[in-house]
Amino acid sequence: MAKAGINHIAFIMDGNGRWAQARGLSRLDGHKEGANTLRTVVETLIEQNVPVASFYAFSSENWGRPKAEVEGLMLLLKNYLTSEVDKLAEKGAKLTFVGDRTKGGKLSSSILALMDKAEEKTKDGTAIHLNICINYGGQDEIARAVQKLVDAGEGVITPKAIESQLDTAGQPMPDLCIRTGGEQRLSNFMLWQLSYAELFFSKSYWPAFSKEELTQIIQDFSGRQRRFGKLPENQ
Ligand code: IPE
Ligand code: IPE
Ligand code: MG
Repeated sequence: MAKAGINHIAFIMDGNGRWAQARGLSRLDGHKEGANTLRTVVETLIEQNVPVASFYAFSSENWGRPKAEVEGLMLLLKNYLTSEVDKLAEKGAKLTFVGDRTKGGKLSSSILALMDKAEEKTKDGTAIHLNICINYGGQDEIARAVQKLVDAGEGVITPKAIESQLDTAGQPMPDLCIRTGGEQRLSNFMLWQLSYAELFFSKSYWPAFSKEELTQIIQDFSGRQRRFGKLPENQ
């Protein structure tokens, strides 16, 4: 068990574009810098013994951005999947990709193959489990889960049954969700899993999100009282 009883932190990595624009850089430069922040955050999470973390990297709605930005992001993702995976494996990270990975769907077959390879390479990692959420939407994930139950001929749909078909099945639910970039919304991220998560909104743009800030949030989390709909005395 991690410090402060944290089993899972979910990150909405927002603000790359605004970070870059404020510096006269291109939005893609912001996304590149964001990849560096991801590295620092993973290192901090390992130090803090957080066993699972999820990162919202590309939403099912982000396909609606200008073509050049989408292509740039896909190229960055490819580079990340080729250059970063060995380093993550060395650190003992286990990687899984969360989102719609339908063959012939929106993600290219080369990216889907790199995802499979990365998962295979890191499958024995025990230092931390990282979910990278790509082509991910919370509503889409729930719909896919229910569709799987329907296809299996399941007559009664229970929350437990839906949970068993989510992309994150078997994992602990996030205890906290951290969104950088100043917006206070979920933008279709882990709608099911975040039911009882504590929410933290940081004004820092993701490329400027620091180890110190993350450490402080983890510390503040331990002071929050979670009730799960009950009264404090019957937890
Ligand atoms: C988050 O940063 C990364 C992705 C959605 C891919 P943004 O690109 O949304 O940055 P802002 O919110 O425009 O600053
Ligand atoms: C959420 O950020 C998606 C990711 C961080 C990948 P967006 O920038 O897409 O969300 P909105 O548009 O501000 O809601
Ligand atoms: Mg944004």
